Amino acid sequence: MRLAIASDHAGLELKAELLEAGRARSLQIEDLGTYNNDSVDYPDFASKVARLVASGAAGFGVLVCGTGIGMSIVANKHRGVRAAVCRSEFEARMARAHNDANVLCLGQRVTGPGLARSILEAFLDTPFEGGRHQKRIQKIRDVESAP
Ligand code: RB5
Repeated sequence: MRLAIASDHAGLELKAELLEAGRARSLQIEDLGTYNNDSVDYPDFASKVARLVASGAAGFGVLVCGTGIGMSIVANKHRGVRAAVCRSEFEARMARAHNDANVLCLGQRVTGPGLARSILEAFLDTPFEGGRHQKRIQKIRDVESAP
């Protein structure tokens, strides 16, 4: 499974932590930046990850900014992307099980590194439940393709 990850300057340190966690699981990870503390614009990095997920080139994406909010707003503009800001393992499990989320958004100014790692693990380990949730995902797709 290929994982695409990116952050802005406000998420750089947490991205490094999550990269380490992903590599420990032997995931194939594509780090799309940013790579230093220079101030950058989160929409640019959210779109890099969202494009890979939307195309199927990456199974999951992870985005980190100060709060996770800006990243999620941008990622969700991309058709086929279901991005969720998660601040707890419970939310990460629900985002996967019920919403079939394919992009996890985290905030470095909100969530500490240990919890963030646990959230990532929960996100990666939880399958989509399907069933009654499948038709709701289809309704999201219908919204995306509405004129
Ligand atoms: C950058 O200062 C900050 O606005 C950004 O990382 C993010 O939190 C936006 O949602």
